Amino acid sequence: MTAPRFGGPWTQQKLEILRRYLDAYTTALKNQPFSLTYMDAFAGAGAYSTPDDEYREFNELRRGSTQLAIEVDDKPFDRLIFVELVAERVESLRAMRDRNADRGIVVVQGDANEEIPAFCNSMNWDDRAVVFLDPFKTEVSWSTVAAIAETQKIDCWILFPIMAAARMMPTDREPTEAEKMILDRMFGGREHWFHVYQEQIQLGFFDDEHRMERHRGIEQIAACYKSRLEGAFERVARTPRTLNNSRNTPLFQLFFAAGNKRGAPIAVDIADHILLKDW
Ligand SMILES: C[S@@+](CC[C@H](N)C(=O)[O-])C[C@H]1O[C@@H](n2cnc3c(N)ncnc32)[C@H](O)[C@@H]1O
Repeated sequence: MTAPRFGGPWTQQKLEILRRYLDAYTTALKNQPFSLTYMDAFAGAGAYSTPDDEYREFNELRRGSTQLAIEVDDKPFDRLIFVELVAERVESLRAMRDRNADRGIVVVQGDANEEIPAFCNSMNWDDRAVVFLDPFKTEVSWSTVAAIAETQKIDCWILFPIMAAARMMPTDREPTEAEKMILDRMFGGREHWFHVYQEQIQLGFFDDEHRMERHRGIEQIAACYKSRLEGAFERVARTPRTLNNSRNTPLFQLFFAAGNKRGAPIAVDIADHILLKDW
């Protein structure tokens, strides 16, 4: 198949952060009696090219998150679960599984918002996992993130689509009903995001005009999501990485959240250290 084309320089940043974390995570848990799973719920095709890669040779395609997880080798994951919706990409993942037949790779064609809760319900006391949520846009439902947090056994990297969220939250009026429904699904309820809007009253000669406005910028929106994560997980990395497009506009924020009481402090220390590096 042709590798999917998406992303840009921010894609490499995001993947480098993930790669470093997976390496550190498996090394830290090397001598613990846990069975380690990596779940890539928006798995892609294993390799990708960015729009600026047009003239690259096929063998120069960039390695996607699934390939990077397979390559973690100090202490390899015991199991890797790749979930992907698009049939052609699933085929590619299956070929990758067949090339790495001894690696415990499971490929599932399905919807991440259904497959993740099912995985969470199936976890045993000695299972630990890292879940990577790498959607194109607003696909991740809050209920999926909540299911991850409830296990208290999973560390999670979440790519939050800050530009898509900000576009659905105009600064000079409330979102439309359709936009509100998407935001409710992403944040898990209106009470978790609608407070970014304040009522403004413009005094008029006959009637006053009431209208809802929010401050420009993404800070308040990002703070809503971070506070949501902080309420659900044991700990959340202090500063998410903002991933900008080539015009320096924020596209995504990469959050890290850890669910296990004992493991979270060290997990978050490692993630903070990686997130604060400049690459
Ligand atoms: C940004 S790409 C993932 C890239 C991948 N992590 C990598 O590094 O190569 C997002 C992927 O999620 C898939 N996708 C979109 N919605 C999905 C859903 N609800 N469940 C599972 N996969 C989905 C898309 O088909 C696409 O391949």
